[in-house]
Amino acid sequence: MHIVFAASECAPFAKTGGLADVVGALPPELVKLGHEVTVYLPLYATVRQHIEGEWKYAVRSITIPFEHYNRFVGIVDGGKRNGVQYYFVDCPELFDRQGLYGTRTGDYPNNWERFGLFCRAVLEAAKLLGVPQVFHVHDWQAALIPVYLRTVYSLDPVLREAGVVLTIHNAGYQGWFPPDTTERLLFPWEIFTMDKLEQFDNFNFLKGGLVYSDMLTTVSRKYAEEIQTAEFGEKLDGVLRGRAADLRGILNGVDYAQWDPATDGNLAARYTPEDLAGKRECRADLLHAFGLEKVPESTPVIGIVSRFATQKGFDFVTEIADELAERNVALVALGTGEPIYERFFREWAFRNQANVAVQIRYDDALAHKIEAGADMFLMPSRYEPCGLNQIYSLKYGTAPVVRATGGLDDTIEEWNAELGTGTGFKFEGLKASGLLEAIDRALKAFEDKEGWKKLMRNGMALDYGWERPAKEYAEVYEEVARRRT
Ligand code: ADP
Ligand code: GLC
Repeated sequence: MHIVFAASECAPFAKTGGLADVVGALPPELVKLGHEVTVYLPLYATVRQHIEGEWKYAVRSITIPFEHYNRFVGIVDGGKRNGVQYYFVDCPELFDRQGLYGTRTGDYPNNWERFGLFCRAVLEAAKLLGVPQVFHVHDWQAALIPVYLRTVYSLDPVLREAGVVLTIHNAGYQGWFPPDTTERLLFPWEIFTMDKLEQFDNFNFLKGGLVYSDMLTTVSRKYAEEIQTAEFGEKLDGVLRGRAADLRGILNGVDYAQWDPATDGNLAARYTPEDLAGKRECRADLLHAFGLEKVPESTPVIGIVSRFATQKGFDFVTEIADELAERNVALVALGTGEPIYERFFREWAFRNQANVAVQIRYDDALAHKIEAGADMFLMPSRYEPCGLNQIYSLKYGTAPVVRATGGLDDTIEEWNAELGTGTGFKFEGLKASGLLEAIDRALKAFEDKEGWKKLMRNGMALDYGWERPAKEYAEVYEEVARRRT
């Protein structure tokens, strides 16, 4: 079957979070299953460095009409990698910028136009380069593809039979814009109603995708249930309950070619469940990278790698920060994001120079070093559709301490010292004291060296590779294709 992926991120070309990891890793796995996969991505400034030699245009110019003007996009042929065909949508005036979605001061105001154009360009390009049986679109940035397909393109004989699967990676980002976006993107006003794209008098990209796609998926079973409730649905829970029969939760895989301490080239030493010696070297290397060389061997190290966003539950950390820093523990954090949390981490580190350190930036190699060098990994997210870092942590023998939500709840099992079962530490509820208690359970468990090794090995033995989820996605595509013919 031919599947076209459309997304705003794809590793290694453009990444701000886990979406890029998924769109980077799932297509090659589908190719292994015998499918033909094409990926479309906007040609941002960061993509340029990945295009070797002279640009080869698969299509030189496609006209994308707007209300009183046209834009013209080229489709750059990114070639085949691991059997996957990549096409980059080139519209320099909209995409040739450093940030994917905005600058430090906020989102680009014309994101409606950037991603509206992207969606339409994918449909137009597919007509020239190959219409798939199924479009697999991701998050709000690609969510207008099904809307165009079933409204202004509905009579197109070439596109009519194509199905659409939309994956929700994060219901907290929906693409809200003013009502006149309807006209500016050349949609009929009929779609601006409560049962379609309108929401609280806004034009809502994601809602449109939820209404018009053939099937919906999200990235863990637990989150598939959670988003149907008012607490997690981000005001789309009603729409999602209405589509419950077409919604599946498919837990993300992780790419062990990138994230395995046995082969990871970013580390000071490699290690395996059988021979854990290298992890000590990784720990020393990590403490050196954060200027915490003096932390004694007996002190456990907690790592954080994250977007600093409210979603990630750092408000819990701010509440317990002073108490935590007094424990026998060291903390290293890597992240960027909301100024309030960047400032919190800087000040926390400044007040506790002996055992807390932070680096405010995006650094893939350092993220790997943290996974390997830390003893515990902290993810107290308020909500977490899947979460990849805790799954990386399992492979690196680094015990996750998580809030029991979404993919965190699905992937982490509480450690039971008597039975020797479990992989990490979880807390429920919305109290910071719950987090502190979970950390305290982890610190206590760490004191039992043999028990801790068992805990590490339990996690390292698990397989969260892409093989199983790729098969589940393939079943969804088959179902959609069946429904449309
Ligand atoms: P989300 O997509 O919500 O940010 P995930 O856990 O799914 O959360 O994925 C986050 C991804 O982004 C991981 O691959 C993680 O290593 C990476 N990441 C996040 N922040 C940074 C950073 N500051 N430096 C390097 N990698 C980061
Ligand atoms: C989103 C979610 C994260 C998930 C990622 C990939 O960014 O916040 O939980 O792992 O998408 O699906």
